[in-house]
Amino acid sequence: MGDEPQQWDRFWREGDFARRHTTPPEYMPELVTLFRKRRANSILDLGCGTGRVMAYLVSKGFLVVGQDISPLGLGMAQRAMSSASTRNFVLVNHDVTVLPFPDRSFDAVISINAIHHNRLRDIKRAVKEIYRVLSPKGLLFVNLTARAEIRDGEKVERGTYRTRDGTEKGILHHLFTASEIRSTFKDYRILQLTPPSEGKPHWLLLAEKR
Ligand SMILES: C[S@@+](CC[C@H](N)C(=O)[O-])C[C@H]1O[C@@H](n2cnc3c(N)ncnc32)[C@H](O)[C@@H]1O
Repeated sequence: MGDEPQQWDRFWREGDFARRHTTPPEYMPELVTLFRKRRANSILDLGCGTGRVMAYLVSKGFLVVGQDISPLGLGMAQRAMSSASTRNFVLVNHDVTVLPFPDRSFDAVISINAIHHNRLRDIKRAVKEIYRVLSPKGLLFVNLTARAEIRDGEKVERGTYRTRDGTEKGILHHLFTASEIRSTFKDYRILQLTPPSEGKPHWLLLAEKR
């Protein structure tokens, strides 16, 4: 790991993401319905940031572990969660390439606006680790950016760019193609892959551990 924790701390300190994203993404209620139908109780939120998605899931009765590399983001999440009426959450400071949990620890893993902020080889490591910590038939939901302006950044490898300025300065983004998503998640059964559309610049992937 390089200076990513500092970069993400800066993102949370200086950026307006947390102010612009105070509620969970619009697809979360549907995911909650699915998790309940599948009797998924324990959920890992990878790249939980300040915990807006975690807080929502905890309020719906799930047991949630949030993992992130930004100490500042985790501190903000801890403060936000302290007002929750339940203690059904744990925050862990760790890189997504290594998940410090035993095999089959979680019924579901989600990663929103997070996993694509890495080089492809690290994303692949994370995807492998997610598979390991999921229970049999466990669910994975991730969104993956397709923002066109990412290509204005410095190219660090095929498909991966480092943002040159603004509050995302220095932050990596990997732009996935459909075939790359299929090959990266080849061990999983893909249940749904929703392409980006007008005003919605992310792929949405719902998959299941085979
Ligand atoms: C744009 S924020 C999204 C936060 C949250 N998921 C949300 O949607 O509100 C991305 C988060 O992913 C975390 N992140 C990025 N790469 C990571 C890595 N390799 N390991 C752990 N966390 C990472 C960052 O620290 C940051 O908090």
